[in-house]
Amino acid sequence: FADVSIGIFGGGTVGGGIVEILEKKKEYFEKMTGNTLNVKKICVRDASKPRDFELPEGCSVTTEYSDILEDDSIDMVVEVMGGTTQAKDVVYDALKSGKNVVTANKALIAAYMPEIEKLLADINGKRETAVEFRYEAAVCGGIPIIRSLQSDFVGDDVQTVSGIINGCTNFMLTAMDRDGKSYDEALSEASALGYAEEDPTLDVGGFDARSKLKILMRLAYGVDVEEDDIPCSGITELTKLDFEYAKMMGGSIKLVGVASQVDNGDVSAFVSPCYVSADDSLFAVNGATNAVELVSKNLVCTTLIGEGAGRYPTANSCINDIVALAKGDKTPLPFNPASEDTKYEGDYSSDF
Ligand code: NDP
Ligand code: HSE
Repeated sequence: FADVSIGIFGGGTVGGGIVEILEKKKEYFEKMTGNTLNVKKICVRDASKPRDFELPEGCSVTTEYSDILEDDSIDMVVEVMGGTTQAKDVVYDALKSGKNVVTANKALIAAYMPEIEKLLADINGKRETAVEFRYEAAVCGGIPIIRSLQSDFVGDDVQTVSGIINGCTNFMLTAMDRDGKSYDEALSEASALGYAEEDPTLDVGGFDARSKLKILMRLAYGVDVEEDDIPCSGITELTKLDFEYAKMMGGSIKLVGVASQVDNGDVSAFVSPCYVSADDSLFAVNGATNAVELVSKNLVCTTLIGEGAGRYPTANSCINDIVALAKGDKTPLPFNPASEDTKYEGDYSSDF
């Protein structure tokens, strides 16, 4: 077997899960990819902090980015530290030094995807073997929505992407509505379970969902919108009374993101808490589970439901990217911009 050496930036919720799965399935991944996947170094903020996962044999922990970025024996960088400043430098420097990159960082992708694509084109224009970049975990944790849009929908035209795309707030809303928890109790439980962003304002303010919606809009419609142009309200203003009214009407409240193509080809989008009735498919989507519904010309209506946050669901998506790269799979092309004739002509319409 050839050796694929991996450097991971981040040894927290997601980083720990990646290390655990790589170790647990080492032999299987060897057979599958023809390569031995070894985590050689993990870069964190505080090397003395106790970790809740076992370090693989021969793996060292560092706080120096250059220990990974300047190590020529490292073939692949996994960025799971979050943020858009140091993480951006790490990702760009890794790509420039010819390392494949896997990331779970939706804030980074939402802010810089066009720039990253341009950087990749520049780098790969000068190379014989392309440097690859994958980010399946960036949207809806464990749900394979990015690869679905990049592969299963290539022949289709998406009209509407909608659903629950933030696990932390869905967990909180479920805890408040179903279990009578207070907002603060629900948020601290979500943080303890690894669902919240380092700055939970991103979750409760709806901004994490908005970043994901922006990424989905680029994949579904080939459009780049400013995040600030997407109207966004989070769950911070919800009161006990809202839940009571929703219950009285037989439904519930969910934080929903919606992007639709309107008749003139423009795209309309928002993130907001919405009332969902008991017969809506989102009604039963509880806890950190996410659900994305795609209304499209060929497939009509496709819903993907699964865990949207947390260690193993998110690490699972990163692992899929890591294994695909170790197998030598090429990164799928960006989704084709919609053709003129995009509309499904039946009578299906999304609830939102
Ligand atoms: P955590 O806060 O659990 O872990 C972050 C890790 O990165 C920690 O080990 C931390 O080091 C390290 N780190 C943070 N900043 C720096 C820095 N500037 N330099 C070096 N190391 C740093 O975060 P998560 O694992 O939850 O999330 C990581 C990424 O994955 C984020 O982009 C997040 O949006 C994304 N994501 C997370 C999901 C989840 O459910 N948790 C789901 C989908 C995506 P130390 O431990 O020493 O503090
Ligand atoms: N904080 C994010 C969420 C993590 O709760 O959905 C997964 O993207």
